Amino acid sequence: MSAPEDSDRLVQGTSNDAAISRESAARLGYIADPFIQHFVRHPQRRAPLINRGTFTRFQGVQKTLRQFLRYTSQNQQQHQTQNQVVILGSGLDTSYFLLAKDNIRAKRYFEIDFAEINAKKAATIYKKPDMRRLLPADTKVAAGGCELHSEEYCLLSGDLRLFAQDIVPRLLEHGFDTSAPTLFVSECVLIYLDPQHSDSIIDWITESVANAAILTYEQILPSDRFGQMMIENLRARGLELRGLMAYPSLESTRDRFLSRGWVSAAAIDLSDYHKKAIPQSELSRLARIEFLDEWEEFSLLAKHYAFTLAHTTHSKSFASIKLI
Ligand SMILES: C[S@@+](CC[C@H](N)C(=O)[O-])C[C@H]1O[C@@H](n2cnc3c(N)ncnc32)[C@H](O)[C@@H]1O
Repeated sequence: MSAPEDSDRLVQGTSNDAAISRESAARLGYIADPFIQHFVRHPQRRAPLINRGTFTRFQGVQKTLRQFLRYTSQNQQQHQTQNQVVILGSGLDTSYFLLAKDNIRAKRYFEIDFAEINAKKAATIYKKPDMRRLLPADTKVAAGGCELHSEEYCLLSGDLRLFAQDIVPRLLEHGFDTSAPTLFVSECVLIYLDPQHSDSIIDWITESVANAAILTYEQILPSDRFGQMMIENLRARGLELRGLMAYPSLESTRDRFLSRGWVSAAAIDLSDYHKKAIPQSELSRLARIEFLDEWEEFSLLAKHYAFTLAHTTHSKSFASIKLI
C-alpha cells in the first residue's frame, strides 16, 4: 500500500496520460486541438481504437461546453451574461483556450487541480504565445506560479477532497456566483475520489447552486472481464478507481443525481454515444485518417466509459443542453 502522498502523485500523473492520448488524436487529425502539443514532451502514437475513444470523449465534452455557453448566453441577451464553468480536476485540459480561440467566453471559467499540475500548466501557458495571447488582459500569476487569476479565467490549486472547506471559499473569493447558471465538468476525476468526497461535492452543488448542470465522464462496469482488467491494469500502476464500486453502471451514475434532488439526469456509454451522436460525415472523415477494424474491441472498451449529464434546474436553457 502506498503512502497517501504517493497515491496523490500517481493520480496527478494521469493528467499526462490524458494529454498524451489527446495529442495523439490531435496530431493525426481526429480532433482540432493546436494547444495540447505544448504539454506533451514525448508524443506517442496511440492505437486506432484509443484514438477513436479520445475523439468521442472530446466530442461529448466540447459539445456540452459549447451548448451550455450558447444557451445560457442567449437566455441573457438583455442582461450581461453571467454563466460560469468549473472544471474539476482540469489537469492539462485545453478547453478554455479552444473556446477562447473561437471567441466563446464564459463570464467566469474556473479550473481546479493540484498545485503540482497547475504549476506546469501555468508555466506552459505563459511560455507559448498562442496560448498566452488568449488569456484575459488582467491575468496575474499567483501562489508562486501555481495559480492564474483574472476576472474571467482562474486556475486554482487545491484538493477536491476538501471542497467545501477549501475550494469553495477560494471560488467565492474569485467571483463565483452561486446564483449564476453554472456547468461543472468532471472528466475522469470524481472516479479517483472516495465516494464520500465526490458525493460531498455533488451535495454542495445541490444545496448551493440553483442553476447547475454537471457533465461527468467516468469509468463504469467493474465486474465483467474487461472491467476487472481495467482495474488490475490501473492497480498495477498504483491507481485506484475509488468511486467505481459505488457507481458501477449507467443507472447508478444517473440515479446518483436524481436521488440527491437533481431534476434531470441522463447517462450514455461511449459506445452508444459514438453510434448515436457522431454524424456519418465525421465517421467517414475518421475512416480516412486511420483504419479501425477492431470494432468489437472498441465497443467493449467504450462500454466501460459513460457520460452523465444532470441539471438542478427546470430552466429552458438547461433543458436544451443534451448529450445526444
Ligand atoms: C485523468 S486526469 C484528467 C484530467 C482532465 N480532466 C482531462 O480530462 O484531461 C485526473 C485529474 O484529476 C486531478 N485530481 C484527482 N484527484 C484530485 C484531487 N483530490 N484534488 C485536485 N485534483 C485532483 C489529477 O491531478 C488529474 O489532473
